[in-house]
Amino acid sequence: MKNIDFLIAFLFYVLTSEAQNELLMNTFGRKTISLNGTWHYIIDPYETGFYDYRFKERPEGDPGAYWNKPVIKTNNDWTEHSFKEPYTIQVPGDWNHQDPKFLYYEGTVWYQRTFDKPQLNENEEVHLYFGAVNYKADVYLNGKKLVVHKGGFTPFNFIIPKGLLQEKDNNLVVHVNNNRHPDDVPTVNTDWWNYGGITRDVKLVITSKQHIRQYHLQLDPEQDIAKAKRKGRFKLKGWVKFNTAISDQELTIEIPEVKFKESVSVEGNSLQLDFEVKNIELWDTKNPKLYDVNFSLNKNTITDKIGFRTVKVEGTDILLNGEKTFLRGICLHEEIAKEERRAYSKTDAEYLLGQVQELHANMVRLAHYPHNEYMPRVADSLGIMLWTEIPVYWTINFDKKEVLDNAKQQLNEMVNRDRNRASIVLWGVGNETPVSDKRTEFMTALVKEAKALDQTRLVAAALEVGYNKGKNHVDDPLGEFTDIVALNEYLGWYVSTPDGCRTAEWSVKYDKPFFISETGAGAKGGFHADKTKRFSEEYQQWLYEEQINMFKTKFPESFSGLTPWILFDFKSPKRKNPVYQENWNRKGLIDEKGNKKLAFYTLQAYYKELEELENNR
Ligand code: GCU
Repeated sequence: MKNIDFLIAFLFYVLTSEAQNELLMNTFGRKTISLNGTWHYIIDPYETGFYDYRFKERPEGDPGAYWNKPVIKTNNDWTEHSFKEPYTIQVPGDWNHQDPKFLYYEGTVWYQRTFDKPQLNENEEVHLYFGAVNYKADVYLNGKKLVVHKGGFTPFNFIIPKGLLQEKDNNLVVHVNNNRHPDDVPTVNTDWWNYGGITRDVKLVITSKQHIRQYHLQLDPEQDIAKAKRKGRFKLKGWVKFNTAISDQELTIEIPEVKFKESVSVEGNSLQLDFEVKNIELWDTKNPKLYDVNFSLNKNTITDKIGFRTVKVEGTDILLNGEKTFLRGICLHEEIAKEERRAYSKTDAEYLLGQVQELHANMVRLAHYPHNEYMPRVADSLGIMLWTEIPVYWTINFDKKEVLDNAKQQLNEMVNRDRNRASIVLWGVGNETPVSDKRTEFMTALVKEAKALDQTRLVAAALEVGYNKGKNHVDDPLGEFTDIVALNEYLGWYVSTPDGCRTAEWSVKYDKPFFISETGAGAKGGFHADKTKRFSEEYQQWLYEEQINMFKTKFPESFSGLTPWILFDFKSPKRKNPVYQENWNRKGLIDEKGNKKLAFYTLQAYYKELEELENNR
């Protein structure tokens, strides 16, 4: 291919890349080829593959650039890099758990593999999709940089310019860097392990030149759901967005199980959906009913599994399908503790959510960042509600526009990936951010962005409580804008001892559902002592006993749910107690070996009691 042709193709790519690189929703329902498996790597702490000896970014054709194949024609050709065994690494997966030298590593690792051009008809194009790369990814194909993505927990994809693909051995190189920076989201200080790498699935996605890019279909939240249930007739609302303006085509929406099929003509790059459907079973935690929904354009059909439900706030109640619901939750990091690694697979999701079910919980707060896509999909099928959030955590640089733009980008990527997941009932926009005018302006902008993106869910943030010698007041200005007043309180761990819960008083400024988004205490699994001994299982159990008693006797009527911190012990570089922690945050109800602590059964008993009350209501 002549350079001029490639230049034209490349210019077209750059000019149209915004629309062309919008998130491809539901890759599970599309034609894909997995690029998971064994890749090569080079560890590059000095960025030698990226910068020359004057620390200038290497130009495209530079033979020293790691994104270029080394050119070795004769014995004396200079090159100092190549991707070869035994330097191999598994994708998906963080690098930290794959080799002891990676445990603490923060910096750059180059990933490389080749792939052959897939069979394409003349009306098809191919995209490269990454489930997530933590934290920054520069992606090169056959020596050309195609995309840079920042944000360690959300997917991104981009179209591969046709002229760039060769029949065999397309050289895919990804520069991955997980260094922390003050202006990143999250910022430099987090209480979790900074797992780096291509941590989730990588795939080629094949689409027609004109295709469905995103869609949203859910019960119209404004309908009278009680009346709809009585009549068995429900209003569905939503939209479909295409990758380009389309005309003279028909879009067909079909829900075969209820014999629903409707076609609408397409003019433009999106259209609204608004129709009535009869006799659907609503999705809820006792009957997580999912329907195959087919979206078809030019005989190309994308099938998704969608649960239809409404979630709203009415006064101080949270309503699921119009019925008051108490959220019996627990927090969870995206980690398989016993293997000290990021969770990334369907099997991982089934294991983690299986433990949630054993707790008799009906909800999980996915802390503190969007988890992999298997989590909400498995939660949909199990009937577990989710709070999912972006990592706007602690001391973010609230006064910088580029930081807010990054947070909004990650929020858009999170919502656009999961907006059709019935299990997600709450979008979280931050955690324990210190109150200031700048911060409240920043966070309020995120609340508004979330509401603009999706009117079918609630928006929350984990606020902080003002402790004042037992008089705990909740008046964070952000509570004015969120749908519920959620806060993290550590009475009995960071503040006083568990018996301090007995005299605690609570005042909540806002007339909204009141929610405890974190509470808990540390315990080393298997360490038993008098309950007054910190880090004993008995102390943690005592904390849960006193907290539960406080919920029952001291909390306002508006108390609508809780997600105690946390289901599993998890790795954190901040937890250095040489006897009880050794890089583990010990607030889990299950330790890193998978053993349940005494407090697990205390919370389980409370949740069984609440479940009984709910079933007999
Ligand atoms: C905070 C924070 C968590 C942290 C926890 C703890 O509330 O939100 O991320 O791990 O406290 O101190 O254990």
